[in-house]
Amino acid sequence: MALEAETKSIVAKFDYTDDDVNKAVDEFLRQMGEGLEKDGTSLSQIPTYVTGVPNGTEKGLYMAVDLGGTNFRVCSIQLNGDSTFNLTYTKVAIPKELMVAKTAEELFAFLAKQIELFLKTHHEEQFVAHIRRRMTVSSPDGFRDENVFRLGFTFSFPVQQIGINKGNLIRWTKGFDIPDAIGKDVCALLQIEIDKLHLPVKVAALVNDTVGTLMARSYTAPGKTGAVLGAIFGTGTNGAYVEKLANLKKPLTGEYDKSTGDMVINTEWGSFDNQLSVLPNTPWDIALDKTSVNPGIQMYEKRVSGMFLGEILRLVLLDLVKNPNVSFLRDDNSNSNDWKSTTTIAQNSGIYTPWGLDTAIMSVAAADNTPELSTLRQELESTLNIYSPAYDDAQAFKAIAGAVARRAARLAAVAIAAIVLQTGKLTDPASADEPIDVGVDGSLVEHYPYFRDMIYETLRIIKGVGGEGAKRIRIGIAKDGSGVGAALIALVAANMEKNTTPADYFAELRFQAISHHLTTVPEDGETAATD
Ligand code: GLC
Repeated sequence: MALEAETKSIVAKFDYTDDDVNKAVDEFLRQMGEGLEKDGTSLSQIPTYVTGVPNGTEKGLYMAVDLGGTNFRVCSIQLNGDSTFNLTYTKVAIPKELMVAKTAEELFAFLAKQIELFLKTHHEEQFVAHIRRRMTVSSPDGFRDENVFRLGFTFSFPVQQIGINKGNLIRWTKGFDIPDAIGKDVCALLQIEIDKLHLPVKVAALVNDTVGTLMARSYTAPGKTGAVLGAIFGTGTNGAYVEKLANLKKPLTGEYDKSTGDMVINTEWGSFDNQLSVLPNTPWDIALDKTSVNPGIQMYEKRVSGMFLGEILRLVLLDLVKNPNVSFLRDDNSNSNDWKSTTTIAQNSGIYTPWGLDTAIMSVAAADNTPELSTLRQELESTLNIYSPAYDDAQAFKAIAGAVARRAARLAAVAIAAIVLQTGKLTDPASADEPIDVGVDGSLVEHYPYFRDMIYETLRIIKGVGGEGAKRIRIGIAKDGSGVGAALIALVAANMEKNTTPADYFAELRFQAISHHLTTVPEDGETAATD
């Protein structure tokens, strides 16, 4: 009984009421506005220089790499121009020591090496042709030919973007910490390492995973207007949305296409409300923040995303294990355990290790509706080395894990609702019949049971959205956003390169002519006969 009562009181601490939600939406809108006006605010609102979303007709072969969590992915994407694509990829875990390497070079050299391996394995023809050509072209720009892959670099950390393929790292998140890289252009860091290996690859676009998700969703599920928001609920959390240029008050330094009147903004909402004016703050949230590599920042992310939910839960459970007034994961004797054994927590259990509880087990807990919670209990044994947990223990675990996840989903709804409200689509008569499309990706929204349902349930109680508004918001999974989306932006970048000044154009033509051994090289202003 004591355990049940204590569990109830813990669960109540994770309540985030309808009133709290509505206050948070107002504050989110306020902080969005602040971020559009100046730098250095809680919500960064980073201009991405991407000024439109695709419509599904884009074509071409591109490469994309994705750095942003536990794995590094390298892929090539054939865009077929009919809303479909073919994707080839490899994935490798990033060695932990590289996440906290002394120099940026160590990490980026590793990334370039993976690109080389990928090319050798999947695009050997182009690779070999390129090496052969390099040996015959003496120009220092010898790699500039039609076989150079345009690469979209999905780099999912806060970056001050200064152009479509230029951006300086503001800060690391999600457990990465390489101070040497702060303030540096991450595209240049990667290009340098690619060039050291003489690879036929040009880093053409810098992309946040949320921007990639927004692009991929618009390419694969095109409506009349494309998606308005791309969001990640995975290891980290963040969103990118389409904002009117007129609302973007802070100065923009780089070149961009003004004709659409829009620009995609990377909100970096992981740092929403770092000042904690509306975010919930339990003793466990406080404890987690203290032991994190970045105390005081990414406060919203620390309450919402996969990297942190498991740790919040672990801290709660550890308190419960230590609480002398309740018996949690502890039996008086085998008779008080419904499996007629006694519970043992192994010394090496993840429950005793900081960050030792993987959030994935929360999905198992939520999905387990067996009468004895036997799936969850087996999972406690296999992943946490907690042997013979009793039914009461599993029940407490499930209830607390559920409360932590539910709070996360309600907070997720805050961000989604605020952005939908900001776009004005719900009240714009011109788009009254259209769905408002939101592309999402990430382990939490993909694997946690009912995460999307909990988001919808919350959207319905939000002022300005309500039941009718929630019906119009279409939240759909956009898989592989960071690959396909990055390819799409590399394509935009390639088109921008083509639309360069006439002088650039003729210089490029001359270069092409030389490398193809043509004898007549047109001068600036002359028209060239091309075949
Ligand atoms: C973190 C990063 C952000 C990224 C998100 C999801 O919040 O700062 O750039 O989009 O994780 O991966």
